[in-house]
Amino acid sequence: MAIERTFSIIKPDAVAKNVIGQIYSRFESNGLKIIAARMTQLSRAEAEQFYAIHRERPFFNDLVKFMISGPVMVQVLEGEDAIRKNRELMGATDPQKAEKGTIRADFADSIDANAVHGSDAPETAAVEISCFFPTLEIYTR
Ligand code: TYD
Repeated sequence: MAIERTFSIIKPDAVAKNVIGQIYSRFESNGLKIIAARMTQLSRAEAEQFYAIHRERPFFNDLVKFMISGPVMVQVLEGEDAIRKNRELMGATDPQKAEKGTIRADFADSIDANAVHGSDAPETAAVEISCFFPTLEIYTR
């Protein structure tokens, strides 16, 4: 299995709940290494651009409002099969449908405030990583 990189966001709800460390522990204990990380507060333009694919969806405005409502942690995770593994650890988009023991089942309150983002494919991972981290801020051996 190839070593991959994926892009992850700990969203404002999870940062406010003070569970950054608990979520990082799940990454680390499942073979995902944090190779870049920073706390930031997204601007409206950044959030709109990040979720541009959902621009026409009815939840778009609320999603943007939520994503800029407080600080987030952004990180690059590296490991075997990292994109799929991170999605598995996250659980389904709707925490009510997320499998027990997943990040969203344990820390998210609703489908709109759902604790984490994770890239869904190699192409989106590459684009999302490059939007947030210049190559020199990614620390890999
Ligand atoms: P999506 O890319 O479908 O899910 P995921 O984050 O699991 O890849 O949707 C992006 C975000 O949009 C999702 O995390 C939360 C928000 N969203 C809603 O608020 N309502 C919805 O009905 C859906 C599908 C998503």
